Amino acid sequence: MEPLRYEFGVEPLDLILPQGILKCSLIGVFGETGTGKSVLLNEIAYRALNRGERVLMILFEETPASKLMHFSSLGFDVTEYVRKGDLEFMDCFTYRLRERDIELSGDLGPLDGARGIVDVEDPRNLDAFWDQVERSAREMAGRGIILMDSLTEFLTIAPDPSSLLELMKVMKAVVSKHYRIPVVYTFHFGMFDDFRYVLEIASDGVIDLRFNPEVIKELLIKQMRVRRMSGSKHRPDWITFDVVPGKGLAVVRK
Ligand SMILES: Nc1ncnc2c1ncn2[C@@H]1O[C@H](COP(=O)(O)OP(=O)(O)OP(=O)(O)O)[C@@H](O)[C@H]1O
Ligand SMILES: [Mg+2]
Repeated sequence: MEPLRYEFGVEPLDLILPQGILKCSLIGVFGETGTGKSVLLNEIAYRALNRGERVLMILFEETPASKLMHFSSLGFDVTEYVRKGDLEFMDCFTYRLRERDIELSGDLGPLDGARGIVDVEDPRNLDAFWDQVERSAREMAGRGIILMDSLTEFLTIAPDPSSLLELMKVMKAVVSKHYRIPVVYTFHFGMFDDFRYVLEIASDGVIDLRFNPEVIKELLIKQMRVRRMSGSKHRPDWITFDVVPGKGLAVVRK
């Protein structure tokens, strides 16, 4: 029988979520800029791909070529996965360039013609966006993960916050619950704060990232904790971690 649970294989996450999460979960990663939300999603993707799963990464903040460079900076080579389509970059950024008649010829480099590059004509059209997500989710049912970076950026282009909230509720019901694919999104603190609270309530899990406030004047020490995770046991305390190229997120023990 297909397992009910999903394990990330990312050191600090596995420590705070010793049983993993239920596959039928919509999870938010919240934190201010620089706390490591995007690197966390990149490592979640890389670990999943190494286990033979499929990954859909929905990019709102950067082009696929830029995302690839971020993976490389961590020592994670995902080029082959994108070429085969096991890692799909759903590009919700490049439409901005098209609207300004900017073409970055040759920008894809090794990803030119890769199966995993999926252009979204206009991510402000939420119905068309949803159709593309649903199609990928159906194909990967039960063996993959969907990562959205970032929902805050999506909010800046969505027609209005309530339509986006509706879309997230549909994602939770169809993608996470029906197709058993966890969905993890990032959310910056300090923008759309009213929306943040309704989104947290609509999610099954909330993970917080922060700089340790006790030493913040001296050093920016990254920390992570789980505030809520429906259906899973979790540690209640803040865990300190660092980003180590070649290794990913590493727990820093006191
Ligand atoms: N390749 C790398 N090598 C070492 N450290 C890195 C690397 N990539 C990221 N980091 C660390 O992670 C921090 C940024 O993380 P990240 O981009 O994930 O932040 P974020 O929370 O997504 O920010 P934002 O809200 O602005 O998107 C950097 O400031 C740096 O400390
Ligand atoms: Mg980020």
